[in-house]
Amino acid sequence: MSFLGYDVILAPMAGVTDVALRALCREQGADICFTEMVSAKGLSFANEKTRHLLALAPGEDKVAVQLFGHEPEVMASQAAWIEQEMGESLAYLDINMGCPARKIVSKGDGSALMKTPDLAAAIVGAVKGAVQHPVTVKFRRGWGPDEETAPQFARQMEAAGADGVTVHGRFALQMYHGSADWDCIRRVKEAVQVPVCGNGDVRSGADAVAMRQRTGCDAMMIARGAEGNPWVFSQVKAALAGNPQPAPPTVAERIAMARRHAQLLQQREGRNIVRMRKHAMWYVAGLPGAANARGRLNHCSSLEDFDAVFDELLEEARLHGAYGQPDACAAMGKR
Ligand SMILES: Cc1cc2nc3c(=O)[nH]c(=O)nc-3n(C[C@H](O)[C@H](O)[C@H](O)COP(=O)(O)O)c2cc1C
Repeated sequence: MSFLGYDVILAPMAGVTDVALRALCREQGADICFTEMVSAKGLSFANEKTRHLLALAPGEDKVAVQLFGHEPEVMASQAAWIEQEMGESLAYLDINMGCPARKIVSKGDGSALMKTPDLAAAIVGAVKGAVQHPVTVKFRRGWGPDEETAPQFARQMEAAGADGVTVHGRFALQMYHGSADWDCIRRVKEAVQVPVCGNGDVRSGADAVAMRQRTGCDAMMIARGAEGNPWVFSQVKAALAGNPQPAPPTVAERIAMARRHAQLLQQREGRNIVRMRKHAMWYVAGLPGAANARGRLNHCSSLEDFDAVFDELLEEARLHGAYGQPDACAAMGKR
């Protein structure tokens, strides 16, 4: 099973899939990781913040990049710029047609393109014509409930030249509510010849096996299941290979991972380490003392601040006799 040579992929998450999370997920077995989505318009203005999103960590080999926008020429020229700039570091280019955020959709970007399939196809055609790398499209089940357009939309994207499609089994109007409909992913798989990547609600090895059985997808993408939980990739890879599940991380291992995440972020982002606050909340969720730690994490602005909170949590775990124990939340597949 393979989607352009990849099987289990860290999904793009704006504000989340930074260099640090990518490094840790690759270590745990993710076949490829997405950078945070980038605005074609922002790139066309040579916006430094936008360009920074594409910067790789030292030693990072390849990433997949996702572009958003709605103007075929701008998308094509910026895709070509990315390809030239990133060279061998670029695995493939994806076009975002699934983001439901109001500020994106109101401009005709993201999932709004599911309502304008001709324009969506023109974008795919233009980008394909501008780059050598594979071009894929990530979209949702459809725009609104009772309007499952994904299979037909997938066929249109394939006809326009897409080398693969990723489907998140929720409607745009659902945002992240309800559960992802995996049968929709199967219907997309049946509708096209190009590889299909399934996405939505894979949080454990068992989920991954179930999604593959239910949909026949060629690969899968994991987003929220990796938040504060890079181990999800070792669990999913083991399960898909039919191997026993690795032991869930202990409290000590969870905190050690959070510390490394903070260190990697600081090396890369310097003062922007405040980004670590949300990651830290995810790592410590469910640990003894986490409720108190949350308030303190929200005020951390240096590596030392984070380390101090992590030290306290370790002490708390020792007091509870939980230090070397498998983390209960992870063991229950709740993360
Ligand atoms: C914080 C956050 C940011 C996201 N940003 C993007 C994005 O930039 N591009 C995209 O295609 N999807 C984005 N998504 C959607 C995810 O890639 C994924 O499709 C969705 O969360 C369902 O997968 P999951 O159940 O594994 O989380 C984002 C999701 C979250 C929670």
